[in-house]
Amino acid sequence: MASSSSTRSIVLGLSLWFLLISPALSLTCTSQSKNLKNEIYVHCLDLPSLSSFLHFTYDASNRSLSIAFVAAPAKSGGWIAWAINPTAPGMAGSQALVAYKDSKGAVTVKLYNVSSYESIVPTKKLSFDVWDTSADESGGLMRIYGKVKVPEELAKAGKLNQVWQVGPSVTPEGMIAKHDFAPPNLNSKGALDLSGAHTGGGSTGTDSRTKKRNIHGVLNAVSWGILFPIGAIIARYLRTFESADPAWFYLHVLCQSSAYAIGVAGWGTGLKLGSDSKGVTYTGHRNIGIALFSLATVQIFALFLRPKKDHKYRFHWNLYHHSVGYAILVLGIINVFKGLDILNPENKWKSAYIIVISVLGGIAVLLEAITWIVVISRKSRSRKA
Ligand SMILES: *[C@@H]1O[C@H](CO)[C@@H](O)[C@H](O)[C@H]1NC(C)=O
Ligand SMILES: *[C@@H]1O[C@H](CO)[C@@H](O)[C@H](O)[C@H]1NC(C)=O
Repeated sequence: MASSSSTRSIVLGLSLWFLLISPALSLTCTSQSKNLKNEIYVHCLDLPSLSSFLHFTYDASNRSLSIAFVAAPAKSGGWIAWAINPTAPGMAGSQALVAYKDSKGAVTVKLYNVSSYESIVPTKKLSFDVWDTSADESGGLMRIYGKVKVPEELAKAGKLNQVWQVGPSVTPEGMIAKHDFAPPNLNSKGALDLSGAHTGGGSTGTDSRTKKRNIHGVLNAVSWGILFPIGAIIARYLRTFESADPAWFYLHVLCQSSAYAIGVAGWGTGLKLGSDSKGVTYTGHRNIGIALFSLATVQIFALFLRPKKDHKYRFHWNLYHHSVGYAILVLGIINVFKGLDILNPENKWKSAYIIVISVLGGIAVLLEAITWIVVISRKSRSRKA
């Protein structure tokens, strides 16, 4: 029963995830003109969240950065913002260019000093020079144009922290309303490489990049997020049944080694994605991914060092094998959710994964109960005998 419903959930999970490979793509850097408002921008960056784009040209000789930021406000009558944060990666401390429709219906650009989350103050000047600012709107998208003098330290580093955002409304006094706190709104930040290296729009088109990201998501969700937990369930619960010995062991090894093979492929795609997107780094997701790969590799090799059942070190080996196994289980699931937040597909994909993992969790709880019943009745039987 357990194996047929888990097979069903794997099939469900696999088919749902494979659909992810072909999401509907609307506008991308490759599909839009590089010529905006009579200026030709050298680079275009498909920003990884909030369906936004940054066209830019950087002149290193005088540190001038010319940008056109394109995004749709969260609601009509809302605002869009693009900012440089000279001091830190997040929103606090950023120096922002914000566009919205003023009370007369004209799209305007205002400067904001976002010194903290509580203090978002319209200002006449940012901490660096800004000139030639303007904004316009077409087809539901707003664009902010502007030129900034990149501060010297950032120019030396060759990159800067950028933050972007969209919000729902603006008061008549020009106070911008809070944006949502959904994952795309919280992930809308990253490093901007001024050289334009690996920022897309060139040979690596966005469509192929999105496809790569989706393949990466599918491989890793299936291996770390689904197969590894199933393999752990097999090892923990089938073992209780004497008739399942040694079948459970081979099933467990088969499941975990296929998970590992798929996981390594997924990990490789992740490394490639990471090196292709110099512009934006997801440190947490990346570090967990590296930890997962290392732990799983150790786990595979430990198989060859497994002492015999009655060996005095077998207890220690089991202890080690189980703790590393559970660590992989937990980290794997966490990283699938982190990845989903980055990839930010439609909600149904996240729901699908939640369903798959809940079904597995439910099966585990049921089997845990059955195991206890079996073990207790076995004990009482052996006591009677
Ligand atoms: C920097 O140089 C570019 C072209 O070489 C020019 O268009 C721009 O106005 C200059 N910016 C500054 C701040 O001098
Ligand atoms: C922004 O606000 C902070 C805190 O009020 C202040 O210290 C800083 O000088 C301001 N920056 C600019 C460019 O006005």
